[in-house]
Amino acid sequence: MQETNQSSGVLSLDALEPRVLSCTLCPLAQTRTNVVFGEGNPFADLLFIGEGPGEVEDQTGRPFVGPAGQKLDEVLSSVNIQRADIYIGNVVKCRPPGNRVPSRSEMEICFPYLESQIALIKPALIVTLGNTATQWLMPDIPGITKSHGNFFSWRGGILLFPMFHPSYLLRNPSREKGSPKYLTWLDIQKVSKWIDEYRRTNNT
Ligand code: URA
Ligand code: SF4
Repeated sequence: MQETNQSSGVLSLDALEPRVLSCTLCPLAQTRTNVVFGEGNPFADLLFIGEGPGEVEDQTGRPFVGPAGQKLDEVLSSVNIQRADIYIGNVVKCRPPGNRVPSRSEMEICFPYLESQIALIKPALIVTLGNTATQWLMPDIPGITKSHGNFFSWRGGILLFPMFHPSYLLRNPSREKGSPKYLTWLDIQKVSKWIDEYRRTNNT
């Protein structure tokens, strides 16, 4: 019988990680260098989700450490969000060759890992980065150009907030009013305000 992704019911991120690191369930296993499990605070109230590892992530096994990661760090530091306080993961854990968009089937096969991560971390707010992650988690909302900067409810519980992908900002350097960068700096302020208020009312 073919092995399938049965990651649900895993009791901790530490128990899940070695399973993911040795996963060969989809074709991306053949071309990856390292699996990128995700990293950060296992009890984070804020979870950022990207599309999949790029080249530097594939080489290092860490999420968002290449050029897009540096851009993400800039966005986060503008509102004083520390990477150590949040959790950062991806829809697929292995790099799609040439940074192509992961296929539907690759995302389907890998998704139970992310579902387990969400179930274990129990974030209050999920920030999806870019259209791929946003549409994967929320197939019924408008594309990222319209949906970014708005709060949605994911599976009737956790709030989900789409933002532009940092790579998109790298390709569109303008900071003029209405540019993706300008809008992203507004969006991250919304995230910061929401999470500050959440922490204040929950005493965390
Ligand atoms: N782009 C992503 O979507 N995720 C990463 O981890 C790096 C680049
Ligand atoms: Fe396994 Fe996901 Fe990597 Fe595919 S992308 S091999 S499902 S960990």
